[in-house]
Amino acid sequence: MNKPTVVSGIRPTGYLHLGNYFGAVQNFIRMQDTYNCYFFIADIHSLTTHPTPANLQAGVKQVLAEYLACGIDPEKSTIFIQSDVPEVSELYAFLNMNAYLGELERTTSFKDKARQQPDNVNAGLLTYPVLMAADIIIHKAQFVPVGKDQEQNLEMARKFAGRFNRMYNCELFPIPRPFTFDGGDMIKIPGLDGSGKMGKSDGNAINLVEEPKSIRQKVMRAVTDAGPTEMNSKKSEPVENLFTLLRIVSTPDVVATFEAQHNNCAIRYGDLKKQLAEDIINYTEPIRNRINDILANDDYLAKVAKLGAEKARESAAKTLAEVKELIGFKRLF
Ligand code: TRP
Repeated sequence: MNKPTVVSGIRPTGYLHLGNYFGAVQNFIRMQDTYNCYFFIADIHSLTTHPTPANLQAGVKQVLAEYLACGIDPEKSTIFIQSDVPEVSELYAFLNMNAYLGELERTTSFKDKARQQPDNVNAGLLTYPVLMAADIIIHKAQFVPVGKDQEQNLEMARKFAGRFNRMYNCELFPIPRPFTFDGGDMIKIPGLDGSGKMGKSDGNAINLVEEPKSIRQKVMRAVTDAGPTEMNSKKSEPVENLFTLLRIVSTPDVVATFEAQHNNCAIRYGDLKKQLAEDIINYTEPIRNRINDILANDDYLAKVAKLGAEKARESAAKTLAEVKELIGFKRLF
């Protein structure tokens, strides 16, 4: 019964899209049986961009419904909302005392964010990796399934965990490792704008709740190229991206047909896109329906959040008590 512990979080700042689904959520679902999983909604992290209360609430509800609709099972995994577990914030406060300005300022994600929002370079942004470390180590996680963009944040979590252990001469925290499947990289789902990956802020994403009409519009507008002019030529990046999506949602014979057409220069990207759009619609339809059903069921959502908070707090409180003891928060009187 000693399953390794896994922690992962997602910020409630938008709809889950195909990139999140294939890159992360599907892996979470596979892990539920083999690992002791904590999946949470990082609502405190999302405060760095100052959402309105209404947006924050709606975002949390949406992501929770989406996680559940995708197949995260609240009986198998601990699914919870970060702010429901105050122990995390307490550990964050302690870890901040051993996190240095220089190393925090050098973090790529901090530098990126500081550039993106120059009028709001707040301390929460600076200490984002510290809160993330608290999220992870409070459950003594061994593994953290995250995408490439989070590698540096995870590296910081490893540093803070090791530093605490050394400082208090203990082995309280395992050093969390990035989780990858089959030893390989996580799948990268491309966006529709020709290059890079699907990302929620990039406007190149298809959301899981996207309506068919909108899926068709987005796919038809996707970037391609002028078409192959030589037999068996290599695909350009935008076209390869469409094939990557096709391989995920279509049948192998559909993929083979378009591959052959690209090879003999007979391909019509309009046809490829039409097929891709319909296959994305078929793939996402059951998920979309489940999301909408769950969103209409506040009682169920409340029950799930309560159960998750209880399980997460139990684990977090245990670690926090050990931390406080080690730090010296115990009375001499
Ligand atoms: N920083 C992560 C992201 O932006 C979200 C996150 C917060 C997280 N805390 C975490 C991920 C702990 C893994 C573990 O996606």
